[in-house]
Formats: sequence, structure tokens, C-alpha cells
Amino acid sequence: MIYTITLNPALDRTMEVDGLVVDDANRILREARYAGGKGIDCSRVIEELGGKSTALGFIGGYDGLELEGRLINEGVLCDFTRIGGETRTNIILSKRRDKTQIMLNAAGPRITPAEIGLFFQRIRSLGRDAAFVVVSGSVPPGVNHNIYAQIITTLKGKGIRVALDADEELLRHACKAQPFIIKPNIHEFQRLTGVKSMEIDDLLPRARHILEGGIEIVIISMGAKGLLGVTKDEAYWAIPPQVQVVSQVGAGDSALAGFIYALTKKKSFRESLILAAAAGTAAVMIPGTALCKKKDVERIKKEITIEKR
Ligand SMILES: Nc1ncnc2c1ncn2[C@@H]1O[C@H](COP(=O)(O)OP(=O)(O)OP(=O)(O)O)[C@@H](O)[C@H]1O
Ligand SMILES: [Mg+2]
Repeated sequence: MIYTITLNPALDRTMEVDGLVVDDANRILREARYAGGKGIDCSRVIEELGGKSTALGFIGGYDGLELEGRLINEGVLCDFTRIGGETRTNIILSKRRDKTQIMLNAAGPRITPAEIGLFFQRIRSLGRDAAFVVVSGSVPPGVNHNIYAQIITTLKGKGIRVALDADEELLRHACKAQPFIIKPNIHEFQRLTGVKSMEIDDLLPRARHILEGGIEIVIISMGAKGLLGVTKDEAYWAIPPQVQVVSQVGAGDSALAGFIYALTKKKSFRESLILAAAAGTAAVMIPGTALCKKKDVERIKKEITIEKR
């Protein structure tokens, strides 16, 4: 079983309007609600690809219940920690006329120390069936930026491998606890290492330096340039075909989910990187915040060029 952790999930609401006018009514043409958050995105992609995962994290209030219900209905198992606060709602206003989006993101509920304690009880009770735990996204108010490092230390102590996708302080602290995998995008990697270049030859030594600290796999995703996967023994650059980009949202989550899913299916590092790149690329071809579709992933997989570095 793969577990995903989303500490600050959201019930996302997409509303489509023709355009927006002030001081007058704006008619909503279409509305959709779905479970959002980076770990949750990974769970949804793993499900789409044919795998099984359980979503962990904090939920509260009616919106939290709806989020859980929607996920269960999509086939994702849930084992959230209940909180007294209300799960946040993010609003995505999609304007048909000029094809732009306005995103209104809430900070999320404040988590109490007792709720954090309950969450740690839950992850300490994870069994040997936990093949991987994906930890992803930002943290809600009230939560220390050291929390991912603590989650990694707790899980490593139980022999469970952790894949981490985070930025800034969260990533920096977490790296010290040595997760099995990190998947920064190029900008996050630059902030982490101070490297200014985007050239593979400059990124490789920095990635290898990180591996010396005890992390096993570094995957740097680079948008249309694909992704660079590095271990102590191997390095590959997976380059996607040129596709029409409809929405970049969720590309990184889809790529990480594809990689973890392939690894748990005993695919090689090289093959897993190909699936990761294909899943990311398939996600950018889908409008709005929707993630990748399996049939696109299968097709694009054959079009990924892989270069040994
Ligand atoms: N414009 C694009 N064309 C083709 N493939 C793309 C494009 N953008 C992203 N991808 C694919 O998706 C993968 C992940 O994308 P990216 O590096 O943008 O992730 P990210 O910045 O972490 O995204 P997220 O916003 O989901 O966190 C890339 O490695 C690539 O395979
Ligand atoms: Mg990302």
C-alpha cells in the first residue's frame, strides 16, 4: 500500500463564468467541486494508473467530510485525522472569454498540538504493508516547518520509505532527515542548492552531492524539459515530446505519483522515470486542475526519450 500525506487539503471549487464584471451579477455557467491538495493529487493519479493508496492528513467540518466522501467515491482509501477547525475551500474562477483563471487560496484551519499528536499516533501505527509514504505540499497554520523532518524520522525508524515534494524551509529541514526520494522542480532545486544554472551538467553534481547526505533518489522536474533522475549509480534525463499545454496544474504531482507507482510495481529506475515523465506530460494536456488520464500516459510513455547521463 502507498500512503500519501496532505496536511493542508482543500475542497476545491471551480466556477466557470463568461467574464467578470464589478457591481453586477456574474452568472456561473458551470461549477465543480473536488478534493484538492498535493498528496491527494498523488493518490488520485495512483488510482487512475491502477494502483491503491490511502490518503492521510487533517480534515474537519462539513467540507472536510465532503472532501473525504469525494475521494472515497473515486476509489481512494482515506484515513484522515479529524480536527476541530474547518477544511479550507479554494476557489478557482475560470473565465471563458479570455481563457484566464483567478485563484483564491485559503490559508487553512489552525491545527492544535493535540491534533498533531493524534496524527503522529496514526503514522506510528502504519504497518509493514506501507511500501511508500508520499509527503507533499504546504502545511497549515499552527504547524512547525520541521514537521516533515519529524514525519520522515518517525517513518524511517519503522523501515518505511518516504518520498518528499516540498519547497523552501520544509524541504530544507526535511532533507536533513534524509527521505528516500525528493522531487523538487527546477526552481525548488535552485532555492535548495543555490545553483543558478538550468543545464543538466550543472545540476548533476549538485544532485550527487545531495545523495552523499543519505537521500537515495533525487528527481528534478523541469517542465517541458522533462526530468532528471539521479541515484548513486545511475542518472537519466527523461525528455517528453512536444505537446499542446492546456494547464500546468498538477504536472509535478502526476510525475511523482507515476514514479512511485512504477517503483512499487518493481519497475527499474529507468522505466519508473519514463512513467513519471509521461504522467507529468499527460497532466499538462488536460484542462483546469484535472490530473493525467491513463490512456494518455500509456501513449506518451512510448514518446519519451531517455538519455543516460
Ligand atoms: N510544458 C510541458 N510539456 C511537456 N511536459 C511537461 C510540461 N510541463 C511539465 N511537463 C511534464 O511534467 C513533469 C513535471 O512538471 P513540472 O516540472 O512543471 O512540475 P512542478 O513544477 O513540480 O509542478 P506542480 O505545479 O504540479 O508542482 C515534467 O518533468 C514533464 O515530464
Ligand atoms: Mg511541484
